[in-house]
Amino acid sequence: MSESKKTEKVQPKFQPLSAPKGLPDYVPPQSATFHRVRDEFARQAHLAGYQHVELPVFEDTTLFARGVGESTDVVSKEMYTFADRGDRSVTLRPEGTAGVMRAVIEHNLDRGYLPVKLNYYGPFFRYERPQAGRYRQLQQVGVEAIGVDDPLLDAEVIALADRCFRSIGLTGFRLELTSLGDRNCRPEYRQKLQDFLFSLPLDEETRHRAEINPLRVLDDKREKVREMTADAPLMLDYLDDDCRKHFDQVRASLDEMGVEYVVNPRMVRGLDYYTKTCFEFVHDGLGAQSGIGGGGRYDGLMAQIGGQDLSGIGFGLGVDRAVLALEAEGVTLDGVDRRVDVFGVGIGEPAQARMAVLIDALRAAGVSADMAYGGRGLKGAMKGADRAGAKYALVLGDRELESGEIAIKDLAAHSQETVALSAEAVIAQLRSHASISTQ
Ligand code: HAM
Repeated sequence: MSESKKTEKVQPKFQPLSAPKGLPDYVPPQSATFHRVRDEFARQAHLAGYQHVELPVFEDTTLFARGVGESTDVVSKEMYTFADRGDRSVTLRPEGTAGVMRAVIEHNLDRGYLPVKLNYYGPFFRYERPQAGRYRQLQQVGVEAIGVDDPLLDAEVIALADRCFRSIGLTGFRLELTSLGDRNCRPEYRQKLQDFLFSLPLDEETRHRAEINPLRVLDDKREKVREMTADAPLMLDYLDDDCRKHFDQVRASLDEMGVEYVVNPRMVRGLDYYTKTCFEFVHDGLGAQSGIGGGGRYDGLMAQIGGQDLSGIGFGLGVDRAVLALEAEGVTLDGVDRRVDVFGVGIGEPAQARMAVLIDALRAAGVSADMAYGGRGLKGAMKGADRAGAKYALVLGDRELESGEIAIKDLAAHSQETVALSAEAVIAQLRSHASISTQ
């Protein structure tokens, strides 16, 4: 063993490759934040009784065409669709709700106790124009509560999303809320909105949009269109009694729970399945891609993909954007720069071999531990302890080996204690320090 030497720079034989456009890599140290955010969101969902589902990353194309809606940008422009080797048309999932619904129907989960409460996380794929915070592979943590149309459940889901963001330390966001009505009152509103839109001097493409999905015209970012639609009729003014009562109850429940929101009657969601309650979390520090999470109720989705006519509600939280939002707010999660708690430094071959056994025993006892490899000297090995963000270094040299002892250095306090050279003694000593977690 010898200290690794710097190798001479040789020209690589092949051109290095980059990830496909718009696909983010998470490498250390940022990957630790990514993981923590995702796990914390999932933990909060489990606290509220949502159970994990692990579903395929691609599905039959029909599922999304029927579930998400042919007139949405997501389906008409952004799907990664391809024929597999058996010539079936499959699509990388652009979102999670349709797949969850398919699985619920396929496994008869909707025939048991309702609501079915499910949680999922992972990558989703949308062929969007990449920019800061907008990726072609995006990561979400989502929940779906299926089978009960109770405004208290809407409030639960919204409060849960709010708690997810707060639990990682975000504060610079607002929750926007609205109701999109349902199959009874939406058609009349849609007609009113179309009548209004057709009376405007819209360009051909926008006119076409007004025909197939008039609500989307309200989401047009062009100043001219925004001015023209400033007085457009709003769904909130056309809710029937049931939907109005539903929305009022959601709001009352959120008020009682102390979840702050603003009503945004012009909110337009990018997916077609929404009815009644809809919401979005918007972060002010992210520029154009400010939506860090969103969701809502969907009345017709399950029937649309061949199941019972049951309602559901859920959300998808953007993990990538939550990580960016933490950066924008200057929040660092506790301990993300700590790779391990304990780092072993053995000086000389016999001490290193002994250290390897000791470190293995620490891990078996649930202590996170690593050690210096490659025959490094004390200085180089201690640098490894520093890089690992370790709280303690175990130092073992020939002298300690002979006397049957090992030094435990507290790297923050710059103090040192000596204990017997046995896994039991080291673990006992580490356990006496509250800052070391052992299983
Ligand atoms: P969504 O609003 O399309 O909803 O996406 C949810 C979140 O995913 C967004 O708020 C955003 O944070 C993140 N996101 C979306 N597209 C991108 C992108 N290209 N790059 C980075 N982040 C992105 C849904 O997907 C619904 N399935 C949510 C839901 C569940 N509704 C009911 N149940």
